[in-house]
Amino acid sequence: MSGPIAILGGTGPQGRGLALRWARAGQTVIIGSRDGSRAQNVAQEINQKVGSGAQITGAENSAACAHANVCVLTVPFEAQAELLKQLKPALKPGSILIDATVPLAASVGGRPTRVLGVWQGAAAQQTAELVGKGVTVVGAFHNVSAELLKGDAEVDCDVIVCTDDDNARKVASDLAEKIPGIRAVDGGKLENARIVEQITGLLITLNIRYKVHSAGIRMTGLPIRPGA
Ligand SMILES: NC(=O)c1ccc[n+]([C@@H]2O[C@H](COP(=O)([O-])OP(=O)(O)OC[C@H]3O[C@@H](n4cnc5c(N)ncnc54)[C@H](OP(=O)(O)O)[C@@H]3O)[C@@H](O)[C@H]2O)c1
Repeated sequence: MSGPIAILGGTGPQGRGLALRWARAGQTVIIGSRDGSRAQNVAQEINQKVGSGAQITGAENSAACAHANVCVLTVPFEAQAELLKQLKPALKPGSILIDATVPLAASVGGRPTRVLGVWQGAAAQQTAELVGKGVTVVGAFHNVSAELLKGDAEVDCDVIVCTDDDNARKVASDLAEKIPGIRAVDGGKLENARIVEQITGLLITLNIRYKVHSAGIRMTGLPIRPGA
């Protein structure tokens, strides 16, 4: 994929991990944050980890998305709606927004192993409602552990990609498969993101019970993804 990827809320573990892996794959990445200088500091850290040739910069979230045709949202659920309302004017018409938000009950003081019901169905559907028709929303990367992304090893996980748009599915799937070990799985319509988001609550339970930080998913019985 040519052109930069903006990671909104990219200063947290999930955003940093994705940025690191994509930068290693040669992608240009813009880390987004509410605070442009925090974004620049994180970009600098990742640049040092990746080494020469890395193309990572940092910017305030709205500046980050104004420069990208593909944005990735990695903020806690409690931040999702308010941030998207702020960013809506800055999102480019025709752009793709990949949403990794999991509506954990911890967002409202509940257990991290529980996932909230969202009025629209999925957190990613709430995103689609908030950004409007000009931006295509994809739900993906909900089940990938930040702990694995920050390391060097292959990431043993499938990424289920849910969207109503075939081109956006291809873009998100190609990005997922730039991360060694990850296989993109066509998860059908955006409404299926509700199921994928729920799985993360179970993965957190597994992490607790098995005392690991690496639980993920693999779907069996599938051919390689159509069109790959
Ligand atoms: N961590 C994981 O292993 C993992 C795995 C799968 C999915 N996810 C999902 O991915 C998303 C990000 O996870 P994370 O662990 O990286 O989250 P996080 O550390 O809690 O937050 C990520 C970033 O969001 C920004 N943020 C926090 N509160 C905000 C607010 N009120 N308004 C605007 N921005 C705010 C912060 O950036 P600034 O302060 O720099 O703006 C923060 O660094 C979550 O929805 C999570 O459920 C996480």
